[in-house]
Amino acid sequence: MNIQAILSDKIGAAMLAAGAPEGSDALVRQSAKAQFGDYQANGVMGAAKKMGMAPRQLAEQVVNHLDLDGVASKIEIAGPGFINIFLEPTWIEKHIEDALTSQRLGIAPVKPETIVIDYSAPNVAKQMHVGHLRSTIIGDAAARTQEYLGHKVIRANHVGDWGTQFGMLIAYLEKVQNEDASDMALADLEAFYREAKKHYDEDEEFAVRARGYVVKLQSGDEYCRQMWRKLVDITMQQNQQTYRRLNVTLTEDDVMGESLYNSMLPNIVADLKAKGLAVESEGATVVFLDEFKNKEGEPMGVIVQKKDGGFLYTTTDIACAKYRYETLHADRSLYYIDSRQHQHLMQAWTIVRKAGYIPESMSLEHHMFGMMLGKDGKPFKTRTGGTVRLSDLLDEAIERAQNLIREKNPEMPEDELVNVANVVGIGAVKYADLSKNRTTDYIFDWDNMLAFEGNTAPYMQYAYTRVASIFKKANLSHTDLTLPISLQDPREIALATRLLQFEETILTVAREGTPHVMCAYLYELAGLFSSFYEHCPILSAENENQRQSRLKLAALTQKTLKTGLDTLGIETVERM
Ligand code: ARG
Repeated sequence: MNIQAILSDKIGAAMLAAGAPEGSDALVRQSAKAQFGDYQANGVMGAAKKMGMAPRQLAEQVVNHLDLDGVASKIEIAGPGFINIFLEPTWIEKHIEDALTSQRLGIAPVKPETIVIDYSAPNVAKQMHVGHLRSTIIGDAAARTQEYLGHKVIRANHVGDWGTQFGMLIAYLEKVQNEDASDMALADLEAFYREAKKHYDEDEEFAVRARGYVVKLQSGDEYCRQMWRKLVDITMQQNQQTYRRLNVTLTEDDVMGESLYNSMLPNIVADLKAKGLAVESEGATVVFLDEFKNKEGEPMGVIVQKKDGGFLYTTTDIACAKYRYETLHADRSLYYIDSRQHQHLMQAWTIVRKAGYIPESMSLEHHMFGMMLGKDGKPFKTRTGGTVRLSDLLDEAIERAQNLIREKNPEMPEDELVNVANVVGIGAVKYADLSKNRTTDYIFDWDNMLAFEGNTAPYMQYAYTRVASIFKKANLSHTDLTLPISLQDPREIALATRLLQFEETILTVAREGTPHVMCAYLYELAGLFSSFYEHCPILSAENENQRQSRLKLAALTQKTLKTGLDTLGIETVERM
């Protein structure tokens, strides 16, 4: 049930009938205040201006042409020409019934698209850091959301598995294997990488061998390939554990690392040259882009091939976009990468468009995010200034959640406690990230994210258990409710209206890749349920009709909370 779309259509048609120019948008929004109704159309002012007409006069004519019989109980013109719509409770009732009995909460089927989602993208032989955590969590919520709506989602884990650093990594792996014939050194990737780098910087003989391995690896040398595979596999096995702990849906099959595009790169550079886009400049191959200016105000040069023949991160992303069109047949390709890589992507995509590798009909979207900061407002680090290991972070989250739950629930059996703490701890870390507008930096703060008050995972998970417990207490299941819904109390109406706004919420999240919109919706929904629950007795309602009607609202609330949290990748428990 997409109320916004229904009203947009109807009001748009009325605007046309009232003489507004073709293509006028009714600009229908949810009203910010109850006194302005449930929805507000703000498009009349703009249309009136184009027509040289008084906006209020146009608004009156629009309302005269507007047929919202059975949908709205009241239509009002306010201020300079806003149209306020008050929904008809019987109309809401009908759609609540539909949502309860339909497959996916009454959401209309979408035209299925193929959507590639580029997220997580850790680097080989390196520990995942907090930047990858953000990409992983937000990207996974996006994947779940698109999939729930019925789109075909292709998860693309653009792992950093190629580059000149592999010479040094192979040389170092060889060295430790020679020394103790095991791969133990790879258990701690952070230390492994550090040591490899140290040898490379300090030991000339090692460095020469490492550089030799780079060349050999690139030319497909069997030994180097094997060593490289080992590095990739061990890294991804470790990351896979992190994904599992985080309840992230990525699997080993989703890896589409940088190396996948290797074989495409020489052809792309040759083609860019043939098309006159790339030119030789000081030995390198460069694309000069008018769209970007360097410090001197001249077109910026983007290197696609270095003097020594090596390709760059940009060349790979050009190939990657092309591949997602040609081979994966994507309609949309969404990239969950931090905002510092925005210029990089824009340059790669400008080249992609200029070279005609993908048509206008396919969209490339950078769903960027800011940094995760510590309480001091500086980039998130350990107390001693090192990078925070993800596994340590998750351990701490679970431990803190365990203490919290034990305190609230001293008699909870130990195995249940462990499970609940896991769900709450991991949920808290994820929700803290998801609930913030991704475009800005955010402060990572344990106390905030684990609070039982406010827009947090524990609050949402607790709200869910409260609704679930009603049915337990009544010893009822949703299908036992047979009497019709009847909305009387204003709190019932407010809750029901919000329930019907799930579809427009999830569509917004899917369009814009903004899970915080879903979090805000669920948080508000939980709040509306609370006040309904306080003021409208459910199990001790005045009569059976009222009791079942209220139980139906509770049932749809439970389903909606559960579904919404599922799309975010946040788990629930039945009690906490
Ligand atoms: N591995 C890169 C990093 O750690 C992120 C890759 C993002 N995806 C892409 N198509 N460039 O910064």
